Amino acid sequence: MEKYVIRGGKRLQGEVTISAAKNSAVAILPAALLSDEPCIIDNVPDISDIDCAIKILRRLGAEVKQTGKSTIRIDPRHIHSDTVEYELGKNMRASYYFMGALLGKVGHANVSMPGGCDLGARPIDQHLKGFQTLGADISVDYGMVRLTAHQLTGAHIYFDVVTVGGTINVMLAACKAKGLTIIENAAKEPHIVDVANFLNSMGADIMGAGTDVIKIRGVEHLHGCEYSIIPDQIEAGTFMIIAAATNGDILIRGVIPKHLEAVTAKLQKIGVKVVEYDDAIRVTGTGVLRKTSVKTMPHPGFPTDLQPQITTLLTLASGTSIVTEDIFDNRFKYVDELRRMGADISVDGKVAVVEGTGKLKGAPVKANDLRAGAAMIIAGLAADGVTEIENIHYIERGYEGIERKLKALGADIKKVVIPDGYIQKQA
Ligand code: EPU
Repeated sequence: MEKYVIRGGKRLQGEVTISAAKNSAVAILPAALLSDEPCIIDNVPDISDIDCAIKILRRLGAEVKQTGKSTIRIDPRHIHSDTVEYELGKNMRASYYFMGALLGKVGHANVSMPGGCDLGARPIDQHLKGFQTLGADISVDYGMVRLTAHQLTGAHIYFDVVTVGGTINVMLAACKAKGLTIIENAAKEPHIVDVANFLNSMGADIMGAGTDVIKIRGVEHLHGCEYSIIPDQIEAGTFMIIAAATNGDILIRGVIPKHLEAVTAKLQKIGVKVVEYDDAIRVTGTGVLRKTSVKTMPHPGFPTDLQPQITTLLTLASGTSIVTEDIFDNRFKYVDELRRMGADISVDGKVAVVEGTGKLKGAPVKANDLRAGAAMIIAGLAADGVTEIENIHYIERGYEGIERKLKALGADIKKVVIPDGYIQKQA
């Protein structure tokens, strides 16, 4: 077990390069199973969720080789299993993408049902409705979802809620179905477009990704391709907020500024200077942080995956801010940890009222999940004194080299081993 120890109060300055998008990569790796030939995937992030996806691919019989620093080759020609057991699936929520990929590839799949989650209920009923509409029979037995289809057939699917995972899963299953599939009320996140581009590079016929109607005309074969994953919009947004919270000056390289417009607009409203370049964004503190209101929404709205980070920033602002979480019903758990650092936040259901106090004080805290962990890092960087963050394995699920990147920007952060038998201090 390890923890981060951060001595806060430093103004972070310099350049950081953003890694590849976790939420694209965890879908693109399973999607490679659909090919009849090997695929080369470039710009794969070095994070523990990807280690987990690779383990699952290998267990299914795919050959996965690292051929460069961030390049892998996936050869799916000899897969011999359709099963992703609980022991493997439980470590990566996105293991549900193996349902769509295996169903589309071999017509059957046996994948562990994703379990509960700290963000609240996360059903996959819309994924299953999509598979069923394409002609799959579905049963759940001992926590495993069994999907079988003699022949998947294109169909019209209307999602009751906008779902990123559901949209991608149905795209995967429909690629090789017979005829035309139309997904309505589809999610529009950048990684939906990325996965569609990857599938099209293999010969799929997908149109409309990035809009709320996606049309997929089934093809018989998908071939190998070489594909590079897009930069991580959420990692980039996290560094933008880090620059704001430390009154710093950070040039964030390797990003697609269009993906970050909702964050840019909010930071400018709060009083931070944001300048966009072709593939970079520079965020500079102005010494002023003003209150604002934030409501999370599906893309292109403000992303829920940056809600804990911006809420943390607003504790440092002047005035009362309102944050509304409209995607998940339990994404304010981390607020208790921020309170231990002196934040004044009250939560009622999906709404948090943040009384900006202008400062935070270091404390021992824990990461409740990946983005809550990022929020703790931001709080620790901005706080007076020392912050110790436990449960950092959550953070390492999705942020490549975060400690290294922060150190290069001038942060005082180190990872230390927690001795066996250690019990976290209570403030
Ligand atoms: N929902 C349903 N039924 C479904 C699917 C979703 O009711 O069948 C509801 C969910 O309960 C939630 C809302 O719809 O209230 C949106 O869920 P969505 O399916 O869009 O989320 P997801 O696909 O499970 C992905 C990201 C999350 C991100 C959300 C929202 C991946 C692997 N995960 O999850 O990322 O928060 O979209 O943008 O892409 C993260 O990276 O930290 C993370 C949690």
